Amino acid sequence: MRMRAAVLEEFGAPLSVQEVELTDPRAGEVLVRLVACGVCHTDLYTASGADPSGYAPAVLGHEGAGVVEAVGEGVKDVRPGDRVVTLFSPQCRECEHCRSPRTNLCLAIRDEQNQGHLPDGTTRLSRDGEPIRHFMGTSTFAEYTVMPEIALAKITPEAPMHHAALFACGLSTGLGAAMNTAKVEPGSTVVVFGAGMVGLGAVAGARLQGAERIICVDLSEDRLALACGQGATDTWIGGEDTVQQVLDETRGFGADYTFEATGNVTVMRQAVESARMGWGLCTVAGVAGKGETLEVVPRYLITGRRVAGSSFGGVKGRDQVPGYVELALAGEIDVEPFVSHRIRLEEVNRGFELMHAQDGIRSVIDFDQ
Ligand SMILES: NC(=O)c1ccc[n+]([C@@H]2O[C@H](COP(=O)([O-])OP(=O)(O)OC[C@H]3O[C@@H](n4cnc5c(N)ncnc54)[C@H](O)[C@@H]3O)[C@@H](O)[C@H]2O)c1
Ligand SMILES: [Zn+2]
Ligand SMILES: [Zn+2]
Repeated sequence: MRMRAAVLEEFGAPLSVQEVELTDPRAGEVLVRLVACGVCHTDLYTASGADPSGYAPAVLGHEGAGVVEAVGEGVKDVRPGDRVVTLFSPQCRECEHCRSPRTNLCLAIRDEQNQGHLPDGTTRLSRDGEPIRHFMGTSTFAEYTVMPEIALAKITPEAPMHHAALFACGLSTGLGAAMNTAKVEPGSTVVVFGAGMVGLGAVAGARLQGAERIICVDLSEDRLALACGQGATDTWIGGEDTVQQVLDETRGFGADYTFEATGNVTVMRQAVESARMGWGLCTVAGVAGKGETLEVVPRYLITGRRVAGSSFGGVKGRDQVPGYVELALAGEIDVEPFVSHRIRLEEVNRGFELMHAQDGIRSVIDFDQ
């Protein structure tokens, strides 16, 4: 079929919205009609050329929610009409990692996905016979996408799709960091560094876990106001004194749990140093720049602090994303404040500009507009 998609033609140049060709789903694959898609930093990072593993031409986008239109041979878990959230982090339920409760890093299709191919090593996207690659295995800046069944989470048909899309990346990452990776305990003191989509999700996750005190640290008053709406009990403007401030507020010990959601390695270090001696756990969700390293004085570790990393919040997507969407539908997570702008596919570059200007948390593309 022919459809409209936002194509990355050249690094550093705006995406080009144009007609491309998409072929039918093969065995184990699903055709999804996109209804909504968030615009995320990772899309911009790749479009800018800063990501050394990026490739072009490719259809970007990974925060998608849509409706199943058709399924290929052998697809069992979804059928036409089902509502789905796209997963850049798939869950095959068979590999060594999927069978372990300790990680969500499915091994099934990593190599092909990293090269922009579907699992059989080919692409369904093309233009005038020239293949176009699939970004993050999702390519959701498009009216339709073909994805493997193992990378789709089936969700309740009642969920608003512009909310559901946020669970495809940033929101699940933050929620999962608090609920899965750290498993925040009731009554805890928590510090969240960063109040973007990921940090705000971590604030909400800490609240749902029953944390007593949730301190959110950012540089933007507007974003800190949003953190209050998600359950932050204290909001601070970050700076050089933040670690000392945490110590002063916790009888000199530090916080039970800290989360880093800025991508800045200096802030990561603050997050480690703000964790409580004895048992404090620092969870790093931010993605640092290429070649950057995290400096940790070993004494912090010897005296009982731990550091964990979290990719997609440790969330096993097909099993857990549907439950997170239900939580939002039940009123436990207030998703609407995260959707700052609703735009058309043709406005995807404006979505990048808004993100660059830190105007709101997420721009969401509405395909039905
Ligand atoms: N681990 C994963 O699977 C995963 C998934 C999605 C995003 N991420 C990463 O998580 C990070 C956050 O993503 P986001 O979408 O929330 O980004 P964002 O840019 O919207 O939010 C980052 C926030 O950090 C704040 N900040 C910057 N410097 C700070 C400082 N010195 N002190 C305190 N706050 C500071 C900014 O004001 C901003 O509000 C990024 O690095 C992103 O790449 C990771
Ligand atoms: Zn993302
Ligand atoms: Zn797997």
